[in-house]
Amino acid sequence: MRMKPSRNLLLCLCSMLALGFLYYSSWRISLRGWGHRSLYDKQGFFLKLDGTLPLKLTYKYGNLSEGACKPGFAAAKMSAIYPKFIKLAPMFLDPNYKQYSKIGDYPSPFGVKSQEKIIDILLSNTKIYGLGEELDSMSCKTCIIVGNGGILANKSLGQRIDEFDVVVRLNEAPVKGFEKDVGSKTTMRITYPEGAIQKMEHYETQSLFVLSAFKALDFKWLRHMVLNQRLHSTDGFWKSVAKHIPRQPSDMRILNPYFIQEASFKLIGLPHNNGQMGRGNIPTLGTVAITMALHNCDEVAVAGFGYNLSTPLAPLHYYEKIKMSAIKESWTHNISKEKEFLVKLVKAGVIQDWTNGICSGGC
Ligand SMILES: *[C@@H]1O[C@H](CO)[C@@H](O)[C@H](O)[C@H]1NC(C)=O
Ligand SMILES: *[C@@H]1O[C@H](CO)[C@@H](O)[C@H](O)[C@H]1NC(C)=O
Ligand SMILES: *[C@@H]1O[C@H](CO)[C@@H](O)[C@H](O)[C@H]1NC(C)=O
Ligand SMILES: *[C@@H]1O[C@H](CO)[C@@H](O)[C@H](O)[C@H]1NC(C)=O
Repeated sequence: MRMKPSRNLLLCLCSMLALGFLYYSSWRISLRGWGHRSLYDKQGFFLKLDGTLPLKLTYKYGNLSEGACKPGFAAAKMSAIYPKFIKLAPMFLDPNYKQYSKIGDYPSPFGVKSQEKIIDILLSNTKIYGLGEELDSMSCKTCIIVGNGGILANKSLGQRIDEFDVVVRLNEAPVKGFEKDVGSKTTMRITYPEGAIQKMEHYETQSLFVLSAFKALDFKWLRHMVLNQRLHSTDGFWKSVAKHIPRQPSDMRILNPYFIQEASFKLIGLPHNNGQMGRGNIPTLGTVAITMALHNCDEVAVAGFGYNLSTPLAPLHYYEKIKMSAIKESWTHNISKEKEFLVKLVKAGVIQDWTNGICSGGC
């Protein structure tokens, strides 16, 4: 059967229209996808992680002598891959802490809600809220967060670690006897009660004692330490805790809980759980410390981070014989989600990883 020419033309037109519509809608879909999906990931990081700096800064840093501290470098790199980054967040709680709206609405560990009374007592006793005159007045500070990983052993990084302006250590990680690998300088030791050094002779002679509170009870514990009161009961802690801290109140600080909140909900993207502690939404102390440094240091390095589970016989920590295979599935942490965040920081050059543990599987 033969079609009339006019009908033929109509058919042809119709299919062209249909094709055109298909083409148009797929273009629109891909455009929408481009704007929302393929430029940023779920947390708001650019998918393209080169972390290019503003031209002005590139010139400025290019003029500095080799190895000199680059003012604002970490924050500028961070903003380049994560445009939502806002630098302003002090390291420690100070008497103005009620004005940081972000921490008032959340209970521990994400904020200070219903702990205000005890925090006021703590702050009125410690009286000092910064790093100390010398460090606070520096116009450019380099910081290194020393993790506790076995990867630090036998790398002789001690001397290079000591060259940083601020050396941050975590929990009970010892210095004495390990100076060659981990250095001898400790600006601050960030801990929670269960992680604090219990043998007095293991404390370095000088350092700030910084509490990172993960539960309301931790503030009570710190009050006993600051006021040097006997701790009668250790109910509510998940293991034994230090009963005395050999520091003056003026050498004790409270880490700003905003860093736990930001690391968990924004940077790593752990479950919000109505702002309450829940399964897999607590970042590890190491990542909390890195988050603090991004806001407060001009350059940030890390060492001793990253667990490689495919080497089960390698030591888990640099200071004890426990092996990697002893690592347990954690209820509170989500190590794999956390690693995704740390990998972004290393890949984009926001932080330098001196032991290459974070990207050991390739970046
Ligand atoms: C860098 O150095 C060059 C030449 O010494 C100078 O012309 C330029 O203004 C400097 N730039 C900055 C940002 O300091
Ligand atoms: C470091 O060196 C010491 C002494 O040579 C050795 O006993 C230890 O197993 C080494 N540790 C690692 C993690 O390689
Ligand atoms: C960690 O996050 C992944 C992806 O969101 C999820 O599938 C997994 O169950 C989480 N693990 C824990 C311990 O919460
Ligand atoms: C773990 O260590 C092994 C042996 O050194 C290495 O071949 C592998 O790439 C590492 N894997 C990861 C995920 O880091």
